[in-house]
Amino acid sequence: MPKAHILTALRQASDVLSGETLSSQLKIPRVAVWKHIQQLRQAGCQIEASPEGYRLLHEPDLLFPWMFGSWADRIHYQAKISSTMDGARELARNHCPAFSVVIAEEQTAGRGRLQRHWYSDPGGLYFTLVLRPSIPIAWSARVTLAAALTLARLLKEHYQVPAGLKWPNDILVGERKIAGMLAEMEASGDLISFINLGIGVNINNQPEQYEARACSLRTLKQGLFSRKDFLLLFLERLEKGLASEQLEHVAAAWKAENVTLGRQVRIVTHNQELSGLAEDMDDNGALWLAMPDGTRRQIVYGDCFIQ
Ligand code: BTN
Repeated sequence: MPKAHILTALRQASDVLSGETLSSQLKIPRVAVWKHIQQLRQAGCQIEASPEGYRLLHEPDLLFPWMFGSWADRIHYQAKISSTMDGARELARNHCPAFSVVIAEEQTAGRGRLQRHWYSDPGGLYFTLVLRPSIPIAWSARVTLAAALTLARLLKEHYQVPAGLKWPNDILVGERKIAGMLAEMEASGDLISFINLGIGVNINNQPEQYEARACSLRTLKQGLFSRKDFLLLFLERLEKGLASEQLEHVAAAWKAENVTLGRQVRIVTHNQELSGLAEDMDDNGALWLAMPDGTRRQIVYGDCFIQ
């Protein structure tokens, strides 16, 4: 990946880096180095050129496939798309490999759970991951639990953000949402063809401007972060988190990070609304609600509002 190499080399160089050095490192002619520099500039990098060589002045937060190392072949980047769910569904139906990812800078019809609109403001990370787990269909919600858990742990361990999990798969910091997840599945008989996980993470956007109960890494940490680094770390961690022995115990691990159980909640599904105490979550991700009349209700799908 010459562009990835050039960017890394320019980033690490304490001074100007000559075209000759880059050309010998990459084993390509200097004119080819120049072409890659031009393409990097077109992508938004500010690179100063002088007779001595090149100097990187500014590198924007890019998400191009060639930046993803060994994942590059599975990254499908779109500047603009209706929803990454649409792009991923098409890829999945056309037999793309597992862990293919559709990323978009902008979604014109981003969607959330329960047919809600998902506003994709610039600087957020919006992607859909195609998974093909060999698990029973009854375990499918465990995949989203594992992904939400991976995301929360990444925020905690790598970014020192105290993230918590709200059923079914929202990531909160305090009372404010930093990431949301939407799953779509297709199966043939008893076999899962694919589970597409659409994930929106507020990284460098400022969602508070239109949604008071939202936050982003940028607003929490007062800084800008590489969306590419975040996605790469997430993918590497999720690969491990989806191993079958991990899925076996994912509900227990999820519960350790959750902010839902033990709270009074209001559950909204496509056709009903219920209020009660979020008592427990079972191994396959269903929420058990203790109702005011003393009965217990099992909720397998819906949105949850902590009261
Ligand atoms: C929710 O919290 O309701 C789920 C939000 C999921 C948003 C992501 S952004 C990437 C992917 N594409 C979409 O249209 N939706 C998901």
